Amino acid sequence: MHQRELSLAFGGFDVAVIGAGAAGMMAAAVAGQRGLRVVLIEHAARLAEKIRISGGGRCNFTNIGTGPANFLSQNPDFCRSALAAYTPRDFIDLVEKHGIAWHEKHRGQLFCDNSSEEIIAMLKRECDLGRVAWRMPCAVQGVARHEDGYLLQTSQGAVAARQLVLATGGMAIPQLGATDFALGIARQFGLKVVEPRPALVPLVFDAQAWEPFGSLSGVALEVEIQAQAEDGRPAGTPARRSGKGKRNTVFLEDLLFTHRGLSGPAVLQVSSYWNPGEPIRVDLAPGQNLEQSLLDAKSGNRQQLATVLAGLWPKRLAEQWLANAATAGGMDIGTQRLADVPDKTLRELAANIHHWTLVPSGTAGYKKAEVMRGGVDTRGINQKTMEARNAPGLYFIGEALDVTGWLGGYNFQWAWASGAACGRALSAA
Ligand code: FDA
Repeated sequence: MHQRELSLAFGGFDVAVIGAGAAGMMAAAVAGQRGLRVVLIEHAARLAEKIRISGGGRCNFTNIGTGPANFLSQNPDFCRSALAAYTPRDFIDLVEKHGIAWHEKHRGQLFCDNSSEEIIAMLKRECDLGRVAWRMPCAVQGVARHEDGYLLQTSQGAVAARQLVLATGGMAIPQLGATDFALGIARQFGLKVVEPRPALVPLVFDAQAWEPFGSLSGVALEVEIQAQAEDGRPAGTPARRSGKGKRNTVFLEDLLFTHRGLSGPAVLQVSSYWNPGEPIRVDLAPGQNLEQSLLDAKSGNRQQLATVLAGLWPKRLAEQWLANAATAGGMDIGTQRLADVPDKTLRELAANIHHWTLVPSGTAGYKKAEVMRGGVDTRGINQKTMEARNAPGLYFIGEALDVTGWLGGYNFQWAWASGAACGRALSAA
């Protein structure tokens, strides 16, 4: 690029934000309202698609119980500072300032009464208040460091800014324009990347292994579920010294049988902790003592076991479970009268239901995932400002970072909090 073009370009902006999603719009609005000259660059033709489709179209925009324990990361304390500096209450205040009606649905999860479009419009208005300039749709072809800042080659010409914010999110739902752009830029500038993987995603099984359960597609029930490595520590988290900072990775949520495997909130939650080759453990009758219930009901009971079990469990599941046990070489106990089934058999049946252990063959992949686990290694990032330690003026926010929230509004709260932390830290000329 010629010197004149370069200086013209650098005459432009204090900040260029790439990615006009949840975190990017928050950072741009906060910085713009502080008087910084901000340009927001988005390659998609429609704004904030993930906000639009989130929460079944009503955007589960935060969780009032948000805390560091609701996030996975190789650096679990990293998120602490930003989450404390921008809380769910802060976002609720913003939502209320814009007159958006909301309600709590389930375990602290807050949703719009009407539509997620209201959250997008709110963030757009906040950007307008900060006089944010837009380049959209606009593809970024290259990023280079310059002594005065960063120079971007884009489909709308050169854009230069003293500071650059990467807010391009994770790779979930590539069909909506998700990319690994931030990870490429991180590597370009010498930052490490924690291996990215689909998370909050259905788990799938080999066709043969799943055949006995395929007919259960559509059956849903509450379960207690966990992914646990063989040494007893939760899968996917670094080994920890005794007790301190122990993470709760047992979830009590609904599970859904599908044609290919398991889904539903319980499975999405545990998928973020699951590593290939490891088992997941499911209690299919949490809070019940099936052994006791069956033994108590046994004396003189002329009903078939399948009928009794169907009174304690979803009927389709009870029938199929007993049929599978028979197919696997056991007795066809489902048709036996409960009184005739040996105690030992009832105990084994109850134990199998309370301790169902199975090894998924994989996940349903980024196409079906809600988020990406892993991302830019936060050990190279300042936790208060989101600035890269080794590249002054380069910031990473939102899902692109190795901070992955549970299902239930936590990922948006991270996007708002990291975006706000960055927006407050960016400097004017
Ligand atoms: P986000 O994905 O929001 O934004 C990134 C932006 O960068 C996008 O606009 C993208 O087009 C753009 N971009 C990507 N590459 C680019 C490039 N090379 N150049 C320019 N622009 C580029 N979370 C939650 O808390 N509650 C919920 O209800 C839901 N529901 C939900 C449903 C579904 C179906 C999905 C897939 C995800 C959710 N999530 C969620 C997760 C949540 O949507 C997600 O964690 C946040 O949107 C992440 O915010 P970011 O700003 O980091 O990325």
